[in-house]
Amino acid sequence: MAVRKIREIGDELLRKKSRPFDSVDEKAKQILEDLYDTLKATQDGVGLAAPQVGILRRAIVVDLSMEEENPQGPFFLINPVIVKQSGEQVCREGCLSIPGKLGDVTRPEKVTVEALDKNGKKIRIKAEGLLAVVLSHEIDHLDGILFVDKATELFDQEEEQS
Ligand code: NI
Repeated sequence: MAVRKIREIGDELLRKKSRPFDSVDEKAKQILEDLYDTLKATQDGVGLAAPQVGILRRAIVVDLSMEEENPQGPFFLINPVIVKQSGEQVCREGCLSIPGKLGDVTRPEKVTVEALDKNGKKIRIKAEGLLAVVLSHEIDHLDGILFVDKATELFDQEEEQS
């Protein structure tokens, strides 16, 4: 178990492109475990990508298992790719690497993601709604893209809650 430090906006590493894995080896599994431990330690996070903890490799964890309406996950994904997308939705997003900020971002309503799971098995996830948003947000991190690049308007989190 390892909780890693989450990099914050301004850190150049968050802007770099992450490298794919050749296979799901021990190192890949370790990264996925660390991502999960780090995500769980944040209490309110629903997804985390490897570059956010300083590792420029294509690995993400998404966990909507705590959602009341439609619990899904956790998903442990290596080399995730959006192979199909359709529709549009606007979602108010935040990011563990951009504390205190929220923004409205237009994302696909539905995405199909292909990846390797933590056992190296090829998987395909058909996602819609919040899961589609989170997958799209986390996969963006692997290409150095942050939600603030796409947000039409930014809000302070405190303001939002009042
Ligand atoms: Ni993020």
